[in-house]
Amino acid sequence: MTRAPLRVAVLGAGTVGREVVRELLASRFAELQLVGVAVRDIGKAQADGIPEALLTDAPAHLVAGDSDVIVELMGGEEPARTLIGAALGAGKPVVTANKLVLARHGAELERVARERDSPLRFEASVMGGTPVLRLLAEDLAGTRLTALRGIVNGTTNHILTEMAASGMSYADALDAAQAAGYAEADPAADVEGGDAADKLVILARMAFGAWLDRAAVPRAEPGRAAGITGVTAEDLRAAAAGGEAIRLIASTERAPDGAIVAAVLPSKVPLESAFGRTLGVRNRLEIEADPLGTVAVEGPGAGGAATANAVLSDLVAIARGKGSTWGALPPASTADQRAPWDAE
Ligand code: HSE
Repeated sequence: MTRAPLRVAVLGAGTVGREVVRELLASRFAELQLVGVAVRDIGKAQADGIPEALLTDAPAHLVAGDSDVIVELMGGEEPARTLIGAALGAGKPVVTANKLVLARHGAELERVARERDSPLRFEASVMGGTPVLRLLAEDLAGTRLTALRGIVNGTTNHILTEMAASGMSYADALDAAQAAGYAEADPAADVEGGDAADKLVILARMAFGAWLDRAAVPRAEPGRAAGITGVTAEDLRAAAAGGEAIRLIASTERAPDGAIVAAVLPSKVPLESAFGRTLGVRNRLEIEADPLGTVAVEGPGAGGAATANAVLSDLVAIARGKGSTWGALPPASTADQRAPWDAE
């Protein structure tokens, strides 16, 4: 028996949303039918090639209307959080790339998803199109995960790479990244480490079974500037003279007492190490598993087409009856959390 296609409503048609809509309109997926797209600017969306009949500026209507699955790609905290919660509460599966919402409201959204048996999938929220959450939740579920270390923000890695290569200042490298489209007009979430902290919270949920308190993830050593904002051309020159590079490393591990240690910090790594050789907007995650050893994943961590890939894979998974991104992991627990410099 052939199943009717899943009716898909997409909220947001920015860099990622536009690509998802384009793929759905091209009908590459027989099991998915695009039934609506909510946007802020209908004229611009039409100019981008989205048929007028699909467009609305009322996302809540799409969530409440005749759709089987909601794809949330608006970004930002509200109204995205409320719309995701409403869809899950109404029993509708949700696919989202919204790391900001998941990092702050993941525990609550997981509770609603489990209560209503509504799948919540979010592979696109970490490392863009490079699959890593399913890997942690499913493929590595049989090993004991002990630590994660990663470059999970492409914008900051691009800026650090350019500063090291050209000797330019942080301010000039940021300006150049913005001009080239690698940094947002408001770059604070990237350069101050907030975006990487959001992703670390999601990774830790998959690896260690608890949603961390995002606000308690340090993004600087005490007394230092957040993220990469305090890194100077001189710091990079001095590091290179000693055979090292500086990378914004998001790390988390389970301490012997069971607490989860987490931080996002500019860190020195050997120039000739895999992290040192991870350049530009590429991302890399190293996973320590017992007794497996180190497993590493590297790939594009941002960009519309790459991230849309993860969204479409999640949609196909839902069409094929798969559950949430946490797979068969037990419900999230709570955990003690601390900074690397806090004593046990
Ligand atoms: N600004 C983010 C980054 C986009 O640079 O990694 C992808 O999450």
